[in-house]
Amino acid sequence: AEGVFTYDPGFVSTAACESQITYIDGANGILLHRGYPIEQLAEKSDYLETCFLLLHGELPTPEESEKFRNTVKNHTMVHDQVIHFFNGFRRDAHPMAIMCGVVGALSAFYHDSMDFSDQEHREIAAFRLIAKMPTLAAMCYKYSMGQPFMYPRNDLSYSENFLHMMFGTPCEEYQPNKTLAKAMDRIFLLHADHEQNASTSTVRLAGSTGANPFACIASGIAALWGPAHGGANEAVLTMLEEIGDEANIPEFIEKAKDKNDPFRLMGFGHRVYKNFDPRAKVMRQTCNEVLTELGLEDDPLLKIAMRLEQIALEDEYFVKRQLYPNVDFYSGIILKAVGIPVSMFTVIFAMSRTIGWFAHWNEMISGSYRIGRPRQLYTGYTKRDYPTE
Ligand code: SDX
Repeated sequence: AEGVFTYDPGFVSTAACESQITYIDGANGILLHRGYPIEQLAEKSDYLETCFLLLHGELPTPEESEKFRNTVKNHTMVHDQVIHFFNGFRRDAHPMAIMCGVVGALSAFYHDSMDFSDQEHREIAAFRLIAKMPTLAAMCYKYSMGQPFMYPRNDLSYSENFLHMMFGTPCEEYQPNKTLAKAMDRIFLLHADHEQNASTSTVRLAGSTGANPFACIASGIAALWGPAHGGANEAVLTMLEEIGDEANIPEFIEKAKDKNDPFRLMGFGHRVYKNFDPRAKVMRQTCNEVLTELGLEDDPLLKIAMRLEQIALEDEYFVKRQLYPNVDFYSGIILKAVGIPVSMFTVIFAMSRTIGWFAHWNEMISGSYRIGRPRQLYTGYTKRDYPTE
């Protein structure tokens, strides 16, 4: 329209944020946490050790590791009043809606008693979030099932305890399944951090206003929920179930290529990776290991996923656009094998990513920072006067 500003292609955003936590090379499919390749961490480390690494920048000594794990165990319970938040939700409420609410509400228990300019208080907040997220997540599941909440057990590992709170009942003691616990730990680790993605950037922006970490993490949960981001793992399972048979794959591939159809191949493509997402490779290997150990190697969804990946990677549309499987493509098959309902998939992602969100928030708060204010490209009307008659 006459007088409308036009976009200057020479404009370059200066909104990049510095960080030393995670490095991604999207062209070469490289992901480093504090310099360590994700493949090596997945093979040799575990989720809590990776939490320590992301927070402190170095792998823990055996003494530091034991102290870190024991401190997490001391924070796994939530205030009994938190139960009343759950009672306000319908039983069929999406667990991500509940997590947005109850994690933000943790501010009401800790906000006044903590000074986040104090590094020690920030570290306590980290322990509270790392420890309580599994408890709250399991409470979402139990609430939807109409089953009693299970208290955490400090004799179990982090992932065993999560499975106990999810699937245990007061009627019989949960016997941890080492295969399932290892699979969950691997999933937690692979989702722990991923540089400044949409939800992490949301947490940093919220943190730049001085908001408390519980409120900032709640904003990250809300951003993660979208199907283009963390909601994709839930959408991948739904897509694989809709495909239903390998014979139907070509039809879905064509749908994904059709510009007039909003359907996208869920679990494919990435804002940064224009090569294989290194997490997807580890996830596919874990998927095969877990299903084989569980005697599910002939799982039809796994067969469909592997065939879909093979066809897509040979299709000119996907090859030309450098679309590869991302972290979400195989994770849902593992979660389904563990017995996690599809509605909980993104909650698992949020639980895992809490340490990444916190590490980025803490890194920014610990240094000098200013309130975030993303630049706008105004393309609206120039100044004009209100009509006189
Ligand atoms: C996560 O940022 C992070 O780090 C996120 C994450 C993390 O750990 O935090 O890695 C987690 O969010 C992984 C992504 C999960 N989302 C999905 O799997 C949803 C399906 N993927 C797409 O929605 C898409 O690939 C995105 C959202 C992930 C990326 O979107 P982009 O970067 O805007 O994609 P693009 O515009 O660069 O795509 C280029 C072309 C386009 O076609 P043309 O306009 O060039 O003709 O590829 C097409 C897109 O239409 N395209 C796809 C596609 N993804 C992109 N076509 C079909 N299926 C797809 N999945």
